[in-house]
Amino acid sequence: MSWIARISLCLTLLGGHAGASDAAAEARARGLAAVGKEIFHDLSLSHPVGQGCVSCHQPALAFSDPRPVSPGAVAGRQGTRNAPTLMYAALIPSLDQEDFIEPDGVVLWLWEGGMFHDGRARTLHEQVAMPFFDHAEMNLADEAALAAKLRQTSYFDRLSALVDPADAGDSDPLVHAARRALVEFLKEPLFRPFDSRLDDFLGGDATALTASETRGLELFRGKAKCADCHFLTATSWPKPLLSDYGYDNLGLPSRGGKKDPGLGGHTGHPEEMGQFKSPTLRNIALTAPYFHDGSMATLREVLEFYNERDVEPRRWGPTDFPETVNRDDFGNLGLTAAEIDDLLALMDAFTDRSLLRMRESGTSLPEAPAGTPDAWSMRAYFPDWNHRATPVKPMPRAQPPR
Ligand code: HEC
Ligand code: HEC
Repeated sequence: MSWIARISLCLTLLGGHAGASDAAAEARARGLAAVGKEIFHDLSLSHPVGQGCVSCHQPALAFSDPRPVSPGAVAGRQGTRNAPTLMYAALIPSLDQEDFIEPDGVVLWLWEGGMFHDGRARTLHEQVAMPFFDHAEMNLADEAALAAKLRQTSYFDRLSALVDPADAGDSDPLVHAARRALVEFLKEPLFRPFDSRLDDFLGGDATALTASETRGLELFRGKAKCADCHFLTATSWPKPLLSDYGYDNLGLPSRGGKKDPGLGGHTGHPEEMGQFKSPTLRNIALTAPYFHDGSMATLREVLEFYNERDVEPRRWGPTDFPETVNRDDFGNLGLTAAEIDDLLALMDAFTDRSLLRMRESGTSLPEAPAGTPDAWSMRAYFPDWNHRATPVKPMPRAQPPR
């Protein structure tokens, strides 16, 4: 057989094989998502037992935590950051650097995406195992401890049937399958309904917003400059995610105690000390308190801070990393009280109706509107789509000095 014939035979076999394995992969992904839902709600996987993902990511609050910081499984231990929403979290791009060319031609390498407020987990796959082993969270000793717990669960048989040892890299294959299960669950339509009134308005329904909210949207795009970072345009997903997932130091009031270095804490770059990821503003009205440290109780306070940080420095006091604060984009926006009311009204229109329906009916999870595409048909859009093996660690590159 000539080498050309051999290659074409291989391709034919591969093609046929790909069809069959695609169907198998789809069935496996669906099975994983179903088990992932059980893992998410399981309170037996912590040490001591009693805490699960759902304890700090409450479905009725768009999977966030109303406490500024969450207590851990061990009494008296707690984290230092506010638990963010998990709505749209599976759509956050993986941590990477983007080249940004300034008007004078200087190229900056800016971090973008990643999980946690500081991006220290590059992907969702990497992130979902971390709460199990965090001593301020679920407090398990190691993967062996998690695997032992998983073996005791009611869904163990279903999970072990989904294990693919070839997939697991260095990790325990059962734990690896549990991670894949959580990732597949977080990709489910219920986490990405895109059914807020803002979506209706951007989709062409001019009556979806009130007059005040429409003025708020103009401000959001214009004078208040919010959309410079909380994007209203579609980027990595066919619909806008209300974030660029870039990093900034807003100059939040110092809380005393240990300073939180954010992004700079793991990249080691001085310019990135005190920078945190810009989050989605979807469902923001449900996810108080605000910012990475949960330090602001209301959206009004957040807006007053953006508007008057530099006008009323005494109200806000000193900040932890003054050298890296963004002083160009906000701090003195000159918004009037009426304009702040319009922006506040607008942010109410960022709430998904499926979450409002869930809160009214008291069901345990929201349900995405009919027609929301399933995770398999959207797989190429998810940042995790080709993560068959353990993802590589990010390689920090230094930024040239400004
Ligand atoms: C004790 C409370 C607690 C528990 C339990 C917990 N989380 Fe979290 N979660 C947090 C906090 C706090 C953060 C932000 C931490 C940070 O930025 O350092 C977070 C961040 C996240 C993020 C990142 C979201 C983003 O926008 O970057 C994801 C995803 C997530 N958690 C999923 C889970 C899953 C899955 C579980 C269960 C395996 C879980 N969490 C268990 C408190 C918790
Ligand atoms: C230069 C980029 C940038 C601009 C412009 C910007 N933001 Fe933000 N926003 C961020 C970052 C970064 C964070 C996270 C900061 C932190 O937690 O330390 C954030 C956080 C928030 C939060 C808290 C989110 C949460 O889940 O706790 C709200 C609310 C918010 N922004 C609203 C706005 C509004 C309204 C505007 C316009 C007035 C605006 N932002 C302008 C980057 C920006």
